[in-house]
Amino acid sequence: MEARGRSCPLSYRYQPEALAEPAKLEAHTLYVVGGLYGNPVALRAILERADREPGGPPAIVCNGDVHWLDVDPGDFQAISEAVLARHATKGNVEAELASEGSDQDAGCGCAYPDYVTDEVVDRSNQIMTRLRATAARFPELVGRLGALPRYLTAQVATERIGIVHGDPESQAGWRLALEAMEPGDPDVRRQVGWRGRPTTTAELLDWFGRAKVSVFASTHTGLPFAQVIADGRQDRLVINNGSAGLPNFAGTSYGVITRLSGDLRPPADSLYGTTVGALRCDALPVRFDLDQWRARFLAQWPPGSPGHRSYFSRITGGTHLRLDQAARDGVRLMPGC
Ligand SMILES: [Fe+2]
Repeated sequence: MEARGRSCPLSYRYQPEALAEPAKLEAHTLYVVGGLYGNPVALRAILERADREPGGPPAIVCNGDVHWLDVDPGDFQAISEAVLARHATKGNVEAELASEGSDQDAGCGCAYPDYVTDEVVDRSNQIMTRLRATAARFPELVGRLGALPRYLTAQVATERIGIVHGDPESQAGWRLALEAMEPGDPDVRRQVGWRGRPTTTAELLDWFGRAKVSVFASTHTGLPFAQVIADGRQDRLVINNGSAGLPNFAGTSYGVITRLSGDLRPPADSLYGTTVGALRCDALPVRFDLDQWRARFLAQWPPGSPGHRSYFSRITGGTHLRLDQAARDGVRLMPGC
């Protein structure tokens, strides 16, 4: 049996055909918000950005891992309530919180591949243990989070969007991780220590066809990117928002969300984007108040704690990733970002 934090529970698995269902929601503009990781300051910034949408309020789908660093009960409750008031799917964090007491113990449920170090996996399991203690105070909210779907199909303009947490076969899958995508980026692969099976164009096209979608929107694997996949005369898109609640790029402090819209004009604050069929697709920055978030984080995860050791440097300095590495084939880096 695989160690806690590395295993992928059977209940996480599904087939891409499951996404070929009729769309559960239709919207003119849709935000996909993955990986909030318990940052209430980022959530507020996202809702404020939504209020400024020129065409009216967008639909918002939170596609999992809304919780993680929010061991403060007040933050946990407020984030749960805000997310449950909107469209949402569950991530491995919510699934594992809700599985408390079952036979299965997948730790954090991250299904970390073998190129992620044991130290990182151990700290994630420790964070999960602390988060479970907070979640235990809110059994009703945790039950509702656990009852959320694992994936969701949406329609924007005339295009169908497959919203997943991990990949089209698993809620905690890593096949849509930046480092797994072909053509491989040698710098990214070296920086994350990637090894394993790359995700080929043939596999992606198979998944798109079986799910009957033009776009896969995912999160979970932590680094954002977008990539067009040519499919005959039609284009498809994989877009992974990385993290809405944590910095994503070197020397930056903003989160990233995915915006999909039937309005083909690029939004002024787009980081990078493209058009797929009748759909404009962009990565948007989540410019939250960093000082406020850092203070909240440190109150919950002081130096020496597993949360601090895993995330403080990302919160204050970003990751190794450059923006141009996230805007892959067919995707344009926007001027001024
Ligand atoms: Fe996740």
